[in-house]
Amino acid sequence: MKLLVTGGAGFIGSNFILYMMRQYPKAQIINMDALTYAGNLENLRSVEQENNYSFVKASITDKQAVDEIFSQGINVVVNFAAESHVDRSILEPDVFVNTNVLGTQVLLDAARKYGITKFVQVSTDEVYGSLGTTGLFSETTPLAPNSPYSASKAGGDLLVRAYHETYGLPVNITRCSNNYGPYQFPEKLIPLMISRALTDEPLPVYGDGLNIRDWLYVEDHCSAIDLVIHQGRSGEVYNIGGNNERTNIQIVNTILQQLGKPESLITYIEDRPGHDRRYGIDPAKITKELGWKPQHHFETGIQETIAWYLSHKDWWERIQSGAYLEYSARQYGSRLGESL
Ligand code: NAD
Ligand code: TYD
Repeated sequence: MKLLVTGGAGFIGSNFILYMMRQYPKAQIINMDALTYAGNLENLRSVEQENNYSFVKASITDKQAVDEIFSQGINVVVNFAAESHVDRSILEPDVFVNTNVLGTQVLLDAARKYGITKFVQVSTDEVYGSLGTTGLFSETTPLAPNSPYSASKAGGDLLVRAYHETYGLPVNITRCSNNYGPYQFPEKLIPLMISRALTDEPLPVYGDGLNIRDWLYVEDHCSAIDLVIHQGRSGEVYNIGGNNERTNIQIVNTILQQLGKPESLITYIEDRPGHDRRYGIDPAKITKELGWKPQHHFETGIQETIAWYLSHKDWWERIQSGAYLEYSARQYGSRLGESL
C-alpha cells in the first residue's frame, strides 16, 4: 500500500498515521499537510526518521504540488485535510470553502488522473445538521448543515459522491462523531477546558451547556477508517460513532472533577450562532457490514486523555501563543469580559 494522508499533521491525521504505521509496518505513507495553525509535526516525531514515512508541506488546493505527489504512484488516499473548527468558520468562512470544497476537488481530479484504488473522504456527522431529543443520524439522513464548516464539508462530500457516480472513482465517505484524545488542538471543547482549568481560567460554556455531542476516542475512529480502506464497498457512506452522548456541561464537570478544580470556574457565555443542539450517530451499518467495534469506553478514554494533557503541558503551552492568542481574544475576550 502506498498511502497518501492529507492533513496528517492535525489531530486525527497524526493519530491515524501513528496507528497505520503500527498496523502496517510495510506500507509507504506520505503525509501532505499545509501546516496551518492546526498542523503540528511534533505529533509525528516518533516516526519521522522511518524509511516508509515522508512529509510534504503543501496545500491540497495547490494543483501542481498535488499532481507531483500523485505521480509517485499513490494507490490509497485518505483526506483529512480541512479547516475543522466551527467557531473559526463563523468568523472567516472563505478559507473553509477553499480548503474543504475546492481542495477536495483538486484531490479528486488527481485521484482520477492517476487511477487510485481507494479515496476515503473523512467527513463529519455535522453535515446532517441537528437532531431533536430523539432519533440518530443514519447514512440516509438528509444533509442539512448549519455552520459554514459543516456546509463546506457537505460540499466536499457531494463532490466525492459525484466523482463516483460520474467517473466511477472508487470512493468512500466516513462521517464520524466528535473525537477526543491526544494531540487535539486546544481550541476544541475537551482540550480547551482541560488547559484552562489547569491554569484556573474561566471555562466558557456556550448557551445553557445542554447541547449534546456523541464522543468517540480518536483511535477508534482510526480503526474504522482502516476497515473502510480495506473493506468499504465502493461509493458507500459509513457513519462512525460509539453511542456516547453527553451534554457539554457533563463533559466540563467530568474534567473539573478529575483535575480537582472548582465548579465556580464554569462561566456561561453567549451561545454560538446556529449552534446545533444534538448529534447522535447510528453506527449499525459499519458494525454489521465491516464488523467495526470501538475498543475504548468513554469513562476510561476521557481519564486517559486528561492524563495525557497533564503530562504534555509543553505540547499545548507551545501552541497557545502567537496566532492562537489572537484568535482566542477574538472568540472569547469580550464575552468573558477579559483580555486573554
Ligand atoms: P485539525 O484541524 O486538527 O487538522 C487539520 C489538518 O489539516 C492540519 O494539520 C492542517 O494543517 C491541515 N490542513 C488544513 N488546510 C489544509 C490544506 N489546504 N492543505 C493541506 N493541509 C491542510 O482537524 P481534525 O480534528 O484532525 O480533523 C481532521 C478531519 O476529520 C477533518 O476533515 C474534519 O472535518 C474531520 N472530522 C473531525 C472530527 C473531530 O471531532 N475533530 C470529527 C469528525 C470528522
Ligand atoms: P467543538 O469542540 O467546537 O466541536 P463541534 O462544535 O464541532 O461539535 O464544540 C463541542 C461542543 O462544545 C459544542 O456544543 C460547542 C461547545 N463549546 C463550548 O460550550 N465552549 C467552547 O469554548 C467551545 C470551543 C465549545
